[in-house]
Order: sequence, then C-alpha cells, then structure tokens
Amino acid sequence: MKALVLSGGSGTRLRPFSYSMPKQLIPIANRPVLEHVVESIRAMGVTEIGIVVGSWGATIADVIGDGSRFGARITYIPQDEPMGLAHCVQLARPFLGDDDFVMYLGDNMLPDGVTHVAEEFTASRPAAQVVLHRVSDPRAFGVAEVDESGAVQRLVEKPQHPKSDLALIGVYFFTKAIHQAVDTIKPSARGELEITDAIQLMLEQGAQIKASLYEGYWQDTGRAEDVLECNARLLAALTSRIDGEVDDTSELSGTVVIAAGARVVRSKLVGPIIVGADSVVEDSHIGPGTSIGTGCTLRATRITESIVLAGANIANVPGLHRSLIGRSASVSPSDRGIAQHRMVIGDNTVIEVAA
Ligand code: G1P
Repeated sequence: MKALVLSGGSGTRLRPFSYSMPKQLIPIANRPVLEHVVESIRAMGVTEIGIVVGSWGATIADVIGDGSRFGARITYIPQDEPMGLAHCVQLARPFLGDDDFVMYLGDNMLPDGVTHVAEEFTASRPAAQVVLHRVSDPRAFGVAEVDESGAVQRLVEKPQHPKSDLALIGVYFFTKAIHQAVDTIKPSARGELEITDAIQLMLEQGAQIKASLYEGYWQDTGRAEDVLECNARLLAALTSRIDGEVDDTSELSGTVVIAAGARVVRSKLVGPIIVGADSVVEDSHIGPGTSIGTGCTLRATRITESIVLAGANIANVPGLHRSLIGRSASVSPSDRGIAQHRMVIGDNTVIEVAA
C-alpha cells in the first residue's frame, strides 16, 4: 500500500500564520502537524508516501525532507490550484499507479491511530474504506449513512440536512477503482472535484464501500483554537524527559519535557509542557498545555495553554493564556506608561488585551 497526503490547502482559517508558513507546519507538541501525519502513516507499515503540495511546496519539502528520517520515501507532487481532493488523486496517478493507497489530509490529527483500519482494509479489500467520527454538527463535513454491518449506503458532501452524525474525517483507503470515479465526476457547487462525490459514484455503480468508526481523539487543525486544543491533548501523552538545564530553585511538576540546550532558571513549570532546544525560561511560570519552541526567551512571564513558536521573546507579561505566538515575535509591556498598548501586528491577527 502507498500513501497520499494532501497538503496543498492555503489555510485561510489559520491567518496570520498561514501568510508566512503552511498550516501543515504549525507545531503541535513542538513537531509540525505533517510530521505527526507521516508517523501515523508509517505506523501502518507504509513506506512510499506522496505529498501533494501547493505554493508552499518548497518550504514543506525543506522541513519534511525525503522521508529517510522516517524510514520512508517521500515524493512531492505539485498542485497549481487547490481544485479538490479528487483532483489530487488525479494528479497523483503516475505516483500511485494501480496500487492500493491510504489518502490522508495533511492537517488532520488522529493521534489514537488508524492502523486497525488499514489492517481491516488490507484483509478484506473493499473498493474503498472510509473513516468516520461522530460530530455534533455534521453540516461542515462529508456525511455517511451506514448500515449495521458497516457498509456505506450513501455519502453526501456538506449536506444542509444531514441524515447521520457520522463525518468523514480525512483518512480514506482506496483500491485502483477510485481512479475511474475521480475521472468521471464533475466539479461541485464550490467548484471542486469532491472525493465524497467520487466515492458516492462508486457506490451507485455497485462497488462495496466499508466504513470504520474512529472513536479516539480527532482534530482538524484548521483554526487557532483547534491547534491549541490538540496541542494540550498531545502534550498530555508525553513522558517527562529533561535534557536541558534546570536550576535548583525551579520547581517542576507533572509531565515536563526540556530539550537539550534549554535553560530553566527560578521558574515554576506545571506540566504537561514542552520547552524546545536552546530556549531560556527565567523567573517565569509555565502552565499546563504549553509548548515553547526552539530558541525562545521567556522572562518574568506567566503563560498557560499556549504555543510559542521558534525564536519568540516574551518578557514581563504576567497573564498569557490560550495564546499562539508566532516565530520571532516579541511580547512585552509598553515602556511609555501603563495605559498605552503599542502594537506592530500582521493582517488578520487577533489580540485580546486585559482592559
Ligand atoms: C474535506 C472533505 C469533507 C471531509 C473534511 C474532513 O472538507 O471534503 O468531506 O469531511 O475534509 O476534514 P474541506 O476541509 O475541504 O471543507
């Protein structure tokens, strides 16, 4: 089996981050989302991975590399315009050949693993197998109607009146039968070739489509809130490990990971948290669900449930909560008097100040 990862999307819901980096490289527990995806695929025993990339292709290839560090071989497949998930399958045909493959959306996190679905698919080889999750508002998703035996009866993309609460969550298993279907469907109302429509066409042509319910934690990391929640969730699964320096006056509790070259001085760290390589934390309080990236400096700061990206500087800020701080950003009090805020911030930035 091969894998096809879709990472061409532009990430408008993750602005301002997606102006300067692809959303698939946003760090969760200090590792890009896409690395988590590649590891999830490797856990299925798959080594041949194609990644469909858009305008951020070169950046993604720089970070993820040729796959050797994952024990895999990665092929990058450029897509000029995001024209839908089924279009990606068309583009990837030379890479996929006639092999079975798992298709995985590059911003979806299924940390509890889908290897059991891969095994089921390989054992029984239906024409396609989809992964479903119960959601409270299915209207934003592809929605499946499934019978008691797990056979899919119907699939509808973003229905106004969903017939079930079972959403497609970004992982699909296909045999080569999908290729004829993606070549037959027409663009949807949003102008995209929908994979949901292609699978529905296969159903109408009599193909067997199976469904597996994923009951673990799932998150589409499309928005800042989702990224923060997913980060806290993944940090909770870490094991403590101190490779950096922690002085005697600092207090650590819960799961704490401190990477090599990091320094913690006169601080209180309440896990689960991770501090990246070469970061400095002084006179600060870091609370649960927080990731500090590499090369950051935090001084006299209190921060909880947040992500600080590489190279950021935060000083004398006592109450940062549920914040996402970009690369090399700087956050500190104004030196022009307490009633003034000075901001040099990018487009679509969100700031909530303590008034
Ligand atoms: C896409 C699919 C949809 C699926 C969703 C999962 O939606 O079209 O069927 O439920 O991914 O994240 P999109 O993110 O393109 O709106």
